[in-house]
Amino acid sequence: MQAFIDDLVETMRDADGAGLAAIQVYEPIRVCAIEVRNNPRYPYKPPIPLTILVNPVLTPVGDEQFENNEGCLSVPNLRGMVQRYVSVHVKAWDRHGNDIDETVHGLKAGTYQHEVDHLLGKVFLDRVTDPTTFATWTEFDRHHKKDFVERVQKLVARVGS
Ligand code: NI
Repeated sequence: MQAFIDDLVETMRDADGAGLAAIQVYEPIRVCAIEVRNNPRYPYKPPIPLTILVNPVLTPVGDEQFENNEGCLSVPNLRGMVQRYVSVHVKAWDRHGNDIDETVHGLKAGTYQHEVDHLLGKVFLDRVTDPTTFATWTEFDRHHKKDFVERVQKLVARVGS
């Protein structure tokens, strides 16, 4: 298990992912890695230290949602708008079996929801309600990035990362 998690982290970093779930590397177990550190795919995301979630369960805190523009290593060259909860409570184990029990907010909460969705057999495509928001990464950069980044920076300033 420890060797598998090391490989998962290495693969996530090699692919510039903000996270990677075990099922994305064909291992059907409930484990995912999350890390954001000067990510070239998502330069606007605030940093998240390396986090391993084992058997995570997310529970929304409040009903407030925000529109998150997401991409995914398992869905090459496509992004789309997804509704995510602004705050979620996380219960999980870390890679050593220690309890993780915390509430995360904003873009960080969006990343957690995206990764835990993988463990539920869902990708962001399953959550896009308006297909007109689908865009390639180039189209996103050209037409949508500026407005989106302004909007999420306001969210992060209000609720934290
Ligand atoms: Ni993904």
